[in-house]
Amino acid sequence: PLPVVVLISGTGSNLAALLRAAAVPGAPFEVVGVVADVPAPGLEHARGAGVPTAVVAMADFPDRAAWDRALADAVAALAPRLVVLAGFMRLIGAPLLRAFPAAIINTHPALLPSFPGSHAVRDALAHGVKVTGASVIEVDEGVDTGRILAQRAVDVLDDDTEETLHERIKAVEREMLVGVVTRLADAAAASDAAVLPADPAPSATPA
Ligand code: GAR
Repeated sequence: PLPVVVLISGTGSNLAALLRAAAVPGAPFEVVGVVADVPAPGLEHARGAGVPTAVVAMADFPDRAAWDRALADAVAALAPRLVVLAGFMRLIGAPLLRAFPAAIINTHPALLPSFPGSHAVRDALAHGVKVTGASVIEVDEGVDTGRILAQRAVDVLDDDTEETLHERIKAVEREMLVGVVTRLADAAAASDAAVLPADPAPSATPA
């Protein structure tokens, strides 16, 4: 199975979905480690599944560049072929990007390029959109600017709060994320090439 490392900062519901999918016999990917930038509650899902965890906290390093290097080292030590940001609330620096070219994806709770950044659900509600959703994208040096790999729409209800809307987004998001990782792992099984194809992969609906 394709070795996958998941990066989290929060509750880890997307991580939990990936762990459940990876536990199915014959799954094309395996979660070989989970790395967080804070002692995230979601790390419990990894511990429960017997998956190694690491915390690389910004506060433990003299500056951002040293943290970027430590994060890249922690991920590289787990030897993944695919890195999945699942609620990881920090920008990815050059060391990790360079170590894993065409191999880092992110899930985001909005229909990019609308509402990038760390308050996507709040921003969408504040803007008054009637439809929002979730996106899985390739990670580049920008803030949620990478190539879109998959998207799903979610209706905004009149009485939605940030919490209720985010919960409905997460329900479709985790299913979509598992679909994308499964599709990439299936494709990668056939070759040693980069996990993310160089050509735009227009498939908006993962298998
Ligand atoms: C997810 O909705 C993810 O898209 C979002 O954080 C949530 C994490 O939930 N990420 C971002 O907003 C990144 N900018 P989880 O910890 O329950 O998986």
